[in-house]
Amino acid sequence: MGERVAVIGSGYVGSVVAACLAHVGHDVVGVESNPEKLATLRSGAAPFHEPGLDNLITSGLAHRKLRFTDDFCDAMDSSDVVFVCVGTPPGPDGDADTTAIRGVTVAIAQNLRHYHVIITKSTVPIGTGFWLGSLIEDILGPAGRDRFGVVSNPEFLREGSAVQDFLHPDRVVLGSDDPKAQEIAATVYRPILEQRIPGDIGKRDVVPLLQTKLTTAEMVKYASNAFLATKISFANEIARLCDFVGADITEVTAGMGLDTRIGGRFLDAGLGWGGSCFGKDLSALITTANEYGYRPRILEGAVSVNESQRKYVVDQLLGHLKTLRGAKVCILGLAFKPHTDDLRDSPALDVAARLIGKGAFVAAYDPMVTAVPDVPDIRLMPDAIRAATGADAIVLATDWPQFLTVRLTELRRSMRGDLFFDSRNNFDPILVEQAGFRYVGIGRGGATTPPRVIAHREQPRNADQGVGVR
Ligand SMILES: NC(=O)c1ccc[n+]([C@@H]2O[C@H](COP(=O)([O-])OP(=O)(O)OC[C@H]3O[C@@H](n4cnc5c(N)ncnc54)[C@H](O)[C@@H]3O)[C@@H](O)[C@H]2O)c1
Repeated sequence: MGERVAVIGSGYVGSVVAACLAHVGHDVVGVESNPEKLATLRSGAAPFHEPGLDNLITSGLAHRKLRFTDDFCDAMDSSDVVFVCVGTPPGPDGDADTTAIRGVTVAIAQNLRHYHVIITKSTVPIGTGFWLGSLIEDILGPAGRDRFGVVSNPEFLREGSAVQDFLHPDRVVLGSDDPKAQEIAATVYRPILEQRIPGDIGKRDVVPLLQTKLTTAEMVKYASNAFLATKISFANEIARLCDFVGADITEVTAGMGLDTRIGGRFLDAGLGWGGSCFGKDLSALITTANEYGYRPRILEGAVSVNESQRKYVVDQLLGHLKTLRGAKVCILGLAFKPHTDDLRDSPALDVAARLIGKGAFVAAYDPMVTAVPDVPDIRLMPDAIRAATGADAIVLATDWPQFLTVRLTELRRSMRGDLFFDSRNNFDPILVEQAGFRYVGIGRGGATTPPRVIAHREQPRNADQGVGVR
């Protein structure tokens, strides 16, 4: 017998949470206030592209383990555990905007007719779980304190592999100052913690569970995203140095990543990070630090390197094309990363907008993106060849794997120029050059200035450096 679960907000996170919890045996009702999204979900499809999600929604609906509604009262009455998955977009002051969270909290309080565990899955400013409990108490009066418990359960899924990430997470974090709520939340996760996933083939290790305080769980989410974003910015900073000295960043990070203390993931240099989470979460964490009078220099540095990376790509194009006014640029990939159609804070879109602002004509192709309302001057084309036709330069901006199989000679023949700017370091430069292109990557030894010979004195080796690599 599964738990009775309501999921409030059926966007990227909420629809995955609802469909996956139904898949592992719970009785789930997803609440969605947007009528178009609700209609799509009720028809058995996700309102966005996410591998594997349509199947889970269809089967959840068919087996009556999952349903979607806009009736909050009905969802509260038919659940004992409620996951809050509404958006927390960046607010004007840099902190996350919690307007939707407040609205949902008030609605929960007004519809709390029996005991509920309220689980915040949205990424919320630190202290929000505590505030949420106080707000409900304020509405219900002190006697209402026994009718709910609050748990923070940060979500770490990645768009593009969200279903797999949710069903097979690296860890589950549950933060609560209320042992009863903490225990019920762990029960909901039991099938995932024990990896009892229907239809799953092969044995997997149990998933680690971190049970901690409310505030600590909220911080785990921000710290994790900040660390990953910083790791990418670090690789990008080293890539810029590689461009100066003529080293190849892909080999440098390969060499670094082989060190198990460092690890190779999230160490890819390129156009930098984007999407709905990293920028927003870093900004919120910086704002929190500032509230306490602390200046988080590493976090600020990660943001500033990321911003400068987008400008760097445009500057590099200017250097190679000599003028951007009238230049025709083909951008391959618009989504902020492969396997999604999400354009939120997409580096590719930022580069396109900067190029258009400098007078370039931009045509683009993305396997999943069908409209770009925020940058209407981009001409969206149905395939890579048509996007490249007549172009002076190609910018590979999102590393969709299918771009690796594009016929490079045909691409080159359709263009009037010969520049191939691989801003994701996704291609083998030799193959690109064999197709007749000038290849430019990020930090791949293709320095625009000649390599400098730096005179240096032999330094005495520091004993702490251990075994020397020459
Ligand atoms: N997208 C990600 O990859 C990701 C990963 C981890 C955490 N998060 C966090 O999860 C949260 C949700 O992110 P998202 O990307 O799913 O946002 P989203 O905008 O895609 O989804 C939010 C949904 O909530 C709905 N909604 C808003 N108010 C509602 C209400 N009162 N009742 C019912 N539905 C309501 C909206 O219509 C929307 O569909 C954010 O805090 C985000 O930071 C996102």
